[in-house]
Amino acid sequence: MAQHRAGEHRGAVRTAGRVRDLPRLETDRLILRKMRLEDAEAMFAYASDPEVTRYVIWATHRTIEDSRAFLELTVSSYASGEGLDWGIVYKGDEKFIGTCGFVSHSPEHARAEIGYVLSRRYWGRGLAPEAVRALIRFGFERMGLNRIEARCIAGNTVSARVMEKARMTYEGTLREREKIQGKLRDMKMYSILRREYLAARDL
Ligand SMILES: CC(C)(COP(=O)(O)OP(=O)(O)OC[C@H]1O[C@@H](n2cnc3c(N)ncnc32)[C@H](O)[C@@H]1OP(=O)(O)O)[C@@H](O)C(=O)NCCC(=O)NCCS
Repeated sequence: MAQHRAGEHRGAVRTAGRVRDLPRLETDRLILRKMRLEDAEAMFAYASDPEVTRYVIWATHRTIEDSRAFLELTVSSYASGEGLDWGIVYKGDEKFIGTCGFVSHSPEHARAEIGYVLSRRYWGRGLAPEAVRALIRFGFERMGLNRIEARCIAGNTVSARVMEKARMTYEGTLREREKIQGKLRDMKMYSILRREYLAARDL
């Protein structure tokens, strides 16, 4: 699978573990950039697909207004310096095809959690692992993290594969931990530590 190469980190300023201006990142096949209000149509195209939203914590978008509302929140989170979510653009066709980012960040514990979603049309090409590896690199090299984690519903075997392909380690299953779409779900926990990232990078 294609490895990501050095991203563009201009503009990323670390202040006590916080990122003040989310930079554009680049991998072999993807651009990770800030989301924009104009992305609503492309977002609605996948966020309204029940196959895509089957295992995510947010509700399937019913109208384009749901996508607009999500993007408005995300854009304002950039302005307040809190937003750590990127839009994913596929270089091959320059389309906005999904999102990825740090869904939670605890600077005091040097820890953050990753989340991701892709349009169904782009599944099965190793694009999510490519994006996740770029986030892992950014998290360790620019945010000063020590631990990056990710969780998925136990039945989401495809998402579990993404974490494995990004060299994250399965730590265990947290039983009935979250109520998602009305049901209490077992959650698989994965993580990668800074020292593991550095050891793999030096191979
Ligand atoms: C999870 C998701 C991001 C995976 O992205 P991806 O770029 O397709 O990931 P990959 O191409 O590396 O494929 C991962 C696995 O998907 C499976 N897969 C392959 N082609 C597939 C296809 N056309 N359709 C569905 N699954 C496929 C394979 O098991 C593959 O593992 P393998 O490479 O070992 O064979 C994507 O499926 C998605 O957006 N799902 C909905 C949102 C979601 O569940 N997000 C995670 C919440 S925790």
